[in-house]
Order: sequence, then C-alpha cells, then structure tokens
Amino acid sequence: MPVPKKTIWELDPHTTAKHEILRRYLKAWFPILSSWHSRIIYIDGFSGPGRYKNSEPGSPLIALDVAANHRRKMSGELIFWFIDERSDRIENLKEELKNFSFPSHFKVKVECGLFHEKLGWVLECMEENKTTLAPTFAFIDPFGFSGIPFKLIECLLKQEKCEVFITFMVDAINRFLEHPQDKIVQYIVEAFGTEEAIRIAESSGDRITNLRTLYQQQLRKVAKFVRYFEMRDRQNRTQYYLFFATNNELGHLKMKEAMWGVDPDGEFRFSDATDPNQLVLFENDPTSALTKNICNRFRGKTRIPIQLVRKYTENDTPYLKKHMTPVLRKAEEIRKIKIEPLKTDGKKRIARTYPDNALITIL
Ligand SMILES: C[S@@+](CC[C@H](N)C(=O)[O-])C[C@H]1O[C@@H](n2cnc3c(N)ncnc32)[C@H](O)[C@@H]1O
Repeated sequence: MPVPKKTIWELDPHTTAKHEILRRYLKAWFPILSSWHSRIIYIDGFSGPGRYKNSEPGSPLIALDVAANHRRKMSGELIFWFIDERSDRIENLKEELKNFSFPSHFKVKVECGLFHEKLGWVLECMEENKTTLAPTFAFIDPFGFSGIPFKLIECLLKQEKCEVFITFMVDAINRFLEHPQDKIVQYIVEAFGTEEAIRIAESSGDRITNLRTLYQQQLRKVAKFVRYFEMRDRQNRTQYYLFFATNNELGHLKMKEAMWGVDPDGEFRFSDATDPNQLVLFENDPTSALTKNICNRFRGKTRIPIQLVRKYTENDTPYLKKHMTPVLRKAEEIRKIKIEPLKTDGKKRIARTYPDNALITIL
C-alpha cells in the first residue's frame, strides 16, 4: 500500500492482525506491570489519527480501551504518550479522545512532533538528572524506516523494564538499500545502528532474510528476548516484521501467547527469532519441530526437572507450554523419554502429566 497522504486512511488486513497482537499483549501487560508498579507508561511514537476510514480504532484507542475496560482494576498511574509528526492527525486524535472518558489515574499526553526527537529529549533529561523511566511499553509503528534510530531503541531497552514493539519495514529497506541519495542510506544505517546494513546489498543469499537477521542480532545485543511476526502481502512477499524485544521473561511469554493467538489468514506467519532459519506456520502441527528441538537440546540428560524443558520451550523456542505437554506425552508413549514415578518433592507423579518437578530422562 502506498504511504497515505490524507489525515485518515483505510485499514488493511495486516494492520488488523497487528492490532490484534497489540490488544492481546496489552491485556496481559497492563495488569501484570501495574500490580507491581505505581506508574507505567505506554508510548505510541507513531500514533496516527486514532481512527481509520471505516471507523475502526487505531492503536491509541485500542490501548486506552484495553486499559480502561480490563476486568482487573488497575489503580496505579497509567501514562499514555501519543506522538505523531502530522498536526492534522494529532488534531484528529485529540477529537477522538474527547469521546473517551478516562479514569482519573490515566494521564494522556498527545504531542505533535518527531518520535526520536521527543523521546530522545526525555531520555537525555533523565540521564542528566540520573533518573530512570517507569516500566514502559513503546509501540514504534512507522510507515517507513526513517526516524527510528537504533541508538534510541538501545537507550530504551537499557532502561529497566522497558520493551519495544516495532514495525520494521524490511521490504522498503530492501528497495532503498542502494539508493543514490546519501540521506536515505543514512536513515537505513541509523535504523540498524550499523553500516553492515548497507553491505547486505552486496552479500549473497536472500536480502530480506539477511536484513531481518541483522536487525534481530542488533536487538539481541540489548534484549534477552527477541521475537518477530512476519507480515506478508497478498503476493506472499514479506512486507514487514513486527519485532518485539524485552528483557522480561514473562513479557516475552505473553507476547508469544499473543502472537500464537492471532488467527492466521494464510498470509501471516509466526517466525522463530531464536533460530532464524526455522519458520513456523500457524497451520502446521508444531509438535514435530518442538520434539526435535527438545531432543537435540536435552539428549542424554538424565533425571532433570521438567522445569528445564519448559523454560527452554518458553524462552528459546517459539512454542508454549501447551505445545510441550503433547510432545512429552507422545514421546513417553513411544518410549523416547522416561519420567520418574516420584517427583522432586517425593510425591507420586500422576500419569501423563508433566509438572515442573517431575524428573525426565531423554533416551
Ligand atoms: C503506520 S501509521 C501509525 C498507525 C497507528 N500506530 C495505528 O496502528 O493505528 C504511521 C504514523 O506515523 C506518523 N509519522 C511518520 N513519521 C513520524 C515520525 N518521525 N515521528 C512521529 N510520527 C511519525 C505518520 O504521520 C503516521 O500517522
């Protein structure tokens, strides 16, 4: 889709899927963090006008709706910071927000300007004053690749309990990689935080994969967990990746659940950031790949707590516990694994269950 020029534009199917992941994740993220912290921040750095042409809500309204209508009441301060470079879109968003009645603990700030300048300034001030940011989720959703310097993402991720969800426009980057204008190429270098990005133009292999892998590697330098969701167009060509990066194990798990929960439409894919060569299609039976992963990782290990297998599944593969359980059940049936009759607490294990404290041997 060409970059929309008008204030509002039509929602496309990719954006619906992106919003669904966002909504599902925020449903989990808001209550978890607000139960531990008296203040949390949601930044929508490329907020858009708040609504699409056919009245569907945009990301700012989705975030507010999730927080306001959550069945678990949140009492701490929730700060929403919406930024967009276009004043007409910001005015539209302000109008939309007039129809919204906020609880008193919501603080909503709407600003016209460039995301990297606004956030950069706040982070600089914090550094000068030696203060830190409250736990923050930053949604970074540009049309292109300018204005998302990696330096800024790095600064955010270095703050404790900050995480980012980024639309990474890999198809556009690929097309502009050899652009004659230095300024354009410089945006690409800035977005990756390394000159290596432009050298990909001369590299062998698939450029899209190489660009994705490089961005993933960059994020992994500052975040323990990096996941991505691949968005393809109707021609089955990769348009962009939704990258999620966090240092929080639970946040990572909740994002994986959100990604798995999005109904596939044939063109959406859930990809494995841990092993870039492994692509997991929603419609595929995930158990065979996970069986291989678990066997390779733990082969020859005896009497280890199942907790290790669960943690491995959740932290280092794209899968969830709900995928691990049938894998272990099947493996036990065909005697690929052995589970001890007694758990680490000395109690009997119930047959065909796989609690953390049962002991497993991979045969
Ligand atoms: C993809 S749209 C955002 C859609 C919105 N996040 C949603 O999901 O409903 C990108 C928005 O970013 C704005 N924009 C582009 N460059 C920007 C920048 N450097 N800083 C802030 N906003 C920018 C555009 O005006 C546009 O409204």
